[in-house]
Amino acid sequence: MLIEVYNDECTLAKNAAVKMIECVLKKPNSLFCLATGDTPKLTYQFFVQKISEFNIDVSKCFFIGLDEWIEVSSSNPGSCHHFLYKYIFTPLEISENQIHLFNPPVENSRYQCLEMNKYIKSKGGIDLMIVGIGMNGHIGFNEPGVGLSLEAHVIELDKITQITAQKYFETAVFISHGITLGMKQIMDAKEVIALAMGKHKSKIVQAMVNEEINEMLPASFLQQHKKSFLLLDKTAACLLKSNNK
Ligand code: GLP
Repeated sequence: MLIEVYNDECTLAKNAAVKMIECVLKKPNSLFCLATGDTPKLTYQFFVQKISEFNIDVSKCFFIGLDEWIEVSSSNPGSCHHFLYKYIFTPLEISENQIHLFNPPVENSRYQCLEMNKYIKSKGGIDLMIVGIGMNGHIGFNEPGVGLSLEAHVIELDKITQITAQKYFETAVFISHGITLGMKQIMDAKEVIALAMGKHKSKIVQAMVNEEINEMLPASFLQQHKKSFLLLDKTAACLLKSNNK
């Protein structure tokens, strides 16, 4: 895992967007897997901006969502579904046949998992994943305790995730489960870019970098990914020893 530390969130996001654009240019029919949450917002905004500015063709790319809340509807602004349309698909005019998402509220979860697994395989695997790190070290909804063998699955969310989740919603929502790509799919992705910003992420970043790889800290698995980057701003990196940078 290569660690890149940037002075501020804006520079980090610009560099992450450049990596996304490089992927489009290198392989126009790339399959992107996109996380939601606060972390990648600015990256996606720069990505959209650069795509328009340089008139880059994204009409052959494919996009999947990393995860979704089980109990929330897709029209809820706090859903991952809504987020991806708002920040990526609508501004870039991505057509429906380029998109495959988990569809909330998820009633047919087994079917959705199988369809997602099938879709990824049909595209020859994920070319680039953008992921954030949860406050408990999750990636997507691969919560502490999850192993490396799972593909898409439904999971009971950790208490920390359930509490943190409320920040995405205008009014309090009941959330207990998530649907997510599994660690196997994350580890099989050709490239993973993990992002973390802010002092509140510094402890979990320190743990994922410095602790031994263990399933109680799913993000630590990225240490052994064949091509992973961890992009941090200075505040998220503040607890790292300099030899890790
Ligand atoms: C959320 C999302 C993840 C996200 C992570 C970090 O629960 N489901 O995909 O990457 O947790 O969220 P944030 O970027 O808001 O800190």
